[in-house]
Amino acid sequence: MSLLLDEIALATVRLAEAGVDSPRTDAELIAAHVHNVKRSELHTVPDADFDARFWADIGRRENREPLQHITGRAYFRYLELDVGPGVFAPRPETEVMTGWAIDRLREMDVAEPVVVDLGTGSGAIALAIAQEVPRASVHAVEGDPLARTWAERNITRYVDSYTAGRVLLHAGDFVSGGTVSAGPGAGLAELAGLAGSVDLVVSNPPYIPLGSIVPPEVGEYDPPAALWSGGDGLDAVRAVERTARWLLRPAGLVAVEHGAPQGAAVFWVFTEEAGWRDTANHKDLARRDRFVTAVWLGGS
Ligand SMILES: C[S@@+](CC[C@H](N)C(=O)[O-])C[C@H]1O[C@@H](n2cnc3c(N)ncnc32)[C@H](O)[C@@H]1O
Repeated sequence: MSLLLDEIALATVRLAEAGVDSPRTDAELIAAHVHNVKRSELHTVPDADFDARFWADIGRRENREPLQHITGRAYFRYLELDVGPGVFAPRPETEVMTGWAIDRLREMDVAEPVVVDLGTGSGAIALAIAQEVPRASVHAVEGDPLARTWAERNITRYVDSYTAGRVLLHAGDFVSGGTVSAGPGAGLAELAGLAGSVDLVVSNPPYIPLGSIVPPEVGEYDPPAALWSGGDGLDAVRAVERTARWLLRPAGLVAVEHGAPQGAAVFWVFTEEAGWRDTANHKDLARRDRFVTAVWLGGS
């Protein structure tokens, strides 16, 4: 055994005692980050190269700082994104909804589909769509200035490769955005020109009911604006429904993520409002209800 593998075994015990869900994986990923090697190459690190920063970073993880903040990286579909304090670290659950949106866009009979991502955070959903659907342009809306700096950084990082110029970042508030009857609201005035013409609206909004108990990685490190959304957690989902009906063209699609227990309630948000058809619940990889989709009929 190498020194590094011994240290990883010790660190695994410490992380497990601290209540970390996947202690061995996290210890290995931290070791790989500190020693600048792939996880599969950890056994090749010579004992003499063992870097004591490993234990400093394990200490941070023991204090339940998210792994993505320690490594500064989050992986989302085919993207490697910069993340850190002030931005929501993208989650694997959201990859499933993003994949649904990508599949629908690919089969859509539209030359250059227009997409809006409400609450883009790091830019994960918007960038993945632009990367995997080269004909699409994506308007990424984010209300929080600090989160926007991370989105800007990630958009810039990918601008030369697959997404050139097709992800446009907007400062905006989708809660005070437009409605079909009242026209553009102040919050999304920049998108007024898109009203009634968008092919797909996608959103992973905040959806945790106020007062819920969440793990330290979430409560202490994800920005509050990314988490909490009223007493039942559905304030932002309702705002996404209103904004989507304002933005979408007839037969345009919406996809919105929600918490596992909220599937029936979010389905109802779309069925109680006139104008939607084919509302459907979808599950994540763990077979929990995770997102709702619907088709906009058009009208008011
Ligand atoms: C759960 S995070 C999702 C981030 C990213 N889409 C992802 O899936 O990783 C929700 C994001 O929506 C933003 N947000 C919350 N309320 C908003 C509002 N009313 N208008 C614009 N952005 C908002 C938050 O700042 C946060 O970045």
